[in-house]
Amino acid sequence: MDAFLLKGPSRLQGSVRISGAKNAALPALAASLLTKEPVRLSGIPQVADLRTMETLLRGMGVSIEANGPEEATLRAEPVTSTEAPYDLVRTMRASILVLGPLVARFGEARVSLPGGCAIGVRPVDLHVKALEAMGARIAVEKGYIHAHVSRVGAHRGRLTGTVIAFPTVTVTGTENVMLAASLARGVTRIENAAMEPEVVDLARLLGRMGAQISGAGTSTLEIEGVESLGGAEHAIVPDRIEAGTYLAAGAITRGDVTAENARAEDLGAFLEALRNAGVEVTAADGSIRVVARDGLSPVDVETLPFPGFPTDLQAQLLALMTQANGTSRITETIFENRFLHASELVRLGADIRIEGHTAIVSGPRRLEGAVVTASDLRASAALVLAGLVAEGETLVRRIYHLDRGYSGMDRKLAALGARVERVAG
Ligand code: EPZ
Repeated sequence: MDAFLLKGPSRLQGSVRISGAKNAALPALAASLLTKEPVRLSGIPQVADLRTMETLLRGMGVSIEANGPEEATLRAEPVTSTEAPYDLVRTMRASILVLGPLVARFGEARVSLPGGCAIGVRPVDLHVKALEAMGARIAVEKGYIHAHVSRVGAHRGRLTGTVIAFPTVTVTGTENVMLAASLARGVTRIENAAMEPEVVDLARLLGRMGAQISGAGTSTLEIEGVESLGGAEHAIVPDRIEAGTYLAAGAITRGDVTAENARAEDLGAFLEALRNAGVEVTAADGSIRVVARDGLSPVDVETLPFPGFPTDLQAQLLALMTQANGTSRITETIFENRFLHASELVRLGADIRIEGHTAIVSGPRRLEGAVVTASDLRASAALVLAGLVAEGETLVRRIYHLDRGYSGMDRKLAALGARVERVAG
């Protein structure tokens, strides 16, 4: 199993190009199931999760033709299966995003329940309840969601628009309903919808395919369903979480790093936290630069749905705060078990206490290289950031977690001056 061997401390300097967003590309690929026509996507990040989604779609009969490094044309015609098997879904819970489009276009789907996840229970009950409210009959048996829309009576094989009021903001739940509602009869209104940039990007793609969507980026989305959708060309929005990770790497190493192909408007709360920590942040023309000269100040944050502080940058900020002059409080409100990186950071010499949903970080602490183990995607990024400043060698094991959402992190970090290599771990 691969690991990253980091030699620290290092000071990062230079520019890094940000890929398209994993969490926008996943629903975009699933959207191809909604039409017979070709969907041409660019900015598809070269990460393991996208490979999994491609394998899942190919298994259903979708043809996927690569048109270049981050480009592909998908065509869901004919679709030979409406099943998402456990062996794929358990490796990537975002596979649930095929449920909405399959039920909407084919009136049936058999999708494995995602199973366990390190960062929390993460049920999909809100996805299921929403599709049931739109007229799908759903049974959960032997670990699979069986969904069916009756071909007789009012529905005649099509979902029907209705009001979906989510009790909790759910990103993929909002996306699944958007995908399904695009082909439903009548209007669907989503209340307490997710407002993430990835949700807005999906609305952009669906709009190009002929869907009638309004309110994307607000907490109330309206989708007027159409009989059928067409093909489209679409460039995936840049990955704000990847950008934030490299900017945090620049800050923790007291460096000077520019993320190119990055949108400051997608990172408001995160950039504000960096500024509060005393990092110089400038944004212009699709790039964001951070310069961290002096000591870092502690900051308190609470993760929240967009536009609040993103939970996917919580671990990276926690690593950064191990180097701040004073005590920071980082509260995780989205997932119930998303501090697994804390005990590994303590192995490197950090001072972190967990009280309920809050991590209390006391700094600055001099970190010393050691062997640490990644538990999930963003936790692994935090361990790499800490390894950049730890004295001596840090070995970050199980970086298959990292490969799920970061393309070529070792190559990109080395280009910024890090001493990092991929080794057998
Ligand atoms: C998306 O996950 C992202 N994944 C996650 O990124 C991200 O952390 C999360 O949104 C929050 O921003 C993708 O977009 C593929 P949620 P999602 O549904 O949609 C509860 C990364 O690192 N909930 O918004 O699965 C849930 O348990 C990943 O790239 C229900 O109770 O998250 C959580 O507490 C990790 N029932 C809260 O809602 C449901 O049916 C928010 O989860 C659905 C969700």
